[in-house]
Amino acid sequence: MKLAVCGKGGVGKSTVSALLCKAFLEDGAKVLAIDADPSPHLFRLLGVKEEVTPIAEMSDLLAERAQKEGPFYTLNPYVEDIPEKFSIDIGNLKLMVLGEIKKAGGGCACPEQTVLRRLLFHLLLGPNEVVIIDTEAGIEHFGRASIASVDVLLVVTQPYKGSIETTKKILEFAKELKISRSLIVGNCIEGETDKKYLLDEFGEKVVEFLPSDPKLRSFERQEKSLLEYDGEVYWGIISLKKKILGINSSIK
Ligand SMILES: Nc1ncnc2c1ncn2[C@@H]1O[C@H](COP(=O)(O)OP(=O)(O)OP(=O)(O)O)[C@@H](O)[C@H]1O
Ligand SMILES: [Mg+2]
Repeated sequence: MKLAVCGKGGVGKSTVSALLCKAFLEDGAKVLAIDADPSPHLFRLLGVKEEVTPIAEMSDLLAERAQKEGPFYTLNPYVEDIPEKFSIDIGNLKLMVLGEIKKAGGGCACPEQTVLRRLLFHLLLGPNEVVIIDTEAGIEHFGRASIASVDVLLVVTQPYKGSIETTKKILEFAKELKISRSLIVGNCIEGETDKKYLLDEFGEKVVEFLPSDPKLRSFERQEKSLLEYDGEVYWGIISLKKKILGINSSIK
């Protein structure tokens, strides 16, 4: 299953992505986390201390894979080995930092973009394998073609107008791309009024409500891995994972 996490800036996309990694790992799944934000942050939340070079910045690699065949750049560059060779292993979790996908899917034919686009498309998964993609805020900048290949689009939303507006745009975009499963998770939900606010807007698309927990901020400030976080937001994430699995049969 390929799952992309999106939403307005600062709503908790990377936090939810990291905690979903933990939840799937605890189920014994193989997880590939892709940090696709041009300002990568997921890798920090997963406790990686060293600097990581995003694949989008490995121009030699991208140029080599997209090498010229006759007068044209190859349209189907070989990408299968990239996740294996260029990811960081954190126990059973693999982490790949993608970097910026400039105009991917938007008609840009540069060879680098062909490689990145194909990489996201190509990730063919066996049973019990999950890819979790933490995207840049908003969704317009994220490659259309790449995002279209996900099985589930998870939109993290906080109960305020700005976040709701972004979520509406994302849902429209997802519909255009024919992504059938777009789910909403409410984050930093303080009580019934917050829940009702989201339910009135989005009805049954809202599948989970996560509370606020100051511990999450302190994990982030101390650069402590969220794989070690076990507070109440995580309990919500476990419930979220079950709902995602309930609607997706490609992983048991
Ligand atoms: N449920 C929560 N309770 C308390 N703090 C939270 C919660 N969710 C996220 N945060 C905190 O909010 C901040 C932003 O979270 P995060 O980095 O996950 O957001 P983001 O949507 O990925 O941001 P960006 O758009 O910059 O990528 C972090 O300090 C994080 O610890
Ligand atoms: Mg983020």
